[in-house]
Amino acid sequence: MNIKKYVIGSIVFLAACGTAVKTGVPAQSDADRATAKFPGTTLAELNKGKIAYEANCGNCHGLKNPLKYSEEEWRKEVPPMAKKAKVDAATEELILKYVVTMSGASPAPSK
Ligand code: HEC
Repeated sequence: MNIKKYVIGSIVFLAACGTAVKTGVPAQSDADRATAKFPGTTLAELNKGKIAYEANCGNCHGLKNPLKYSEEEWRKEVPPMAKKAKVDAATEELILKYVVTMSGASPAPSK
C-alpha cells in the first residue's frame, strides 16, 4: 500500500469537504422577511451575519446548513455555540439573524 498516496488523497478529500456546504446568500426579499422577526433588519446586516457565521461556526464541525434547523432550534443552538466560538454579543446577534432568516428561505428539506 502506498502511504503517501493515501495521505495526499485524505487531504484532498478533507479540503473538498470544507467547501461542500454552501450557505444561502441573502437577498433583499430575505431582509424584508426578516423585519417581521427582527425589526429594522437590513440586507447589509444579513450579509455581515453570513460572513460572521462562516468565519466562526465552521471550525469545529462543518458549517451547518441554515435550512436544516428550524428557528426554534437555531435560537436554542446559537447562544451556547457563540460562547464556544468566543464571539461578542453583537456578532452573536448578527449570526442569529442570518441563520434564523435563512432557515426560512425556502421550504426546509428533510433532515
Ligand atoms: C469550539 C468548537 C465549536 C465552535 C466554534 C462551534 N461549534 Fe457548534 N458544535 C460543537 C460541538 C462539539 C457540537 C456537538 C457535536 C456536533 O453536533 O457536531 C456542536 C453542535 C452544533 C449544532 C447542533 C448540531 C445538531 O444537529 O445537534 C449546531 C446547530 C451548531 N453547533 C452551530 C454552531 C454555530 C452557529 C456556531 C458559531 C456561532 C458554532 N456551532 C461554533 C462545537 C463548536
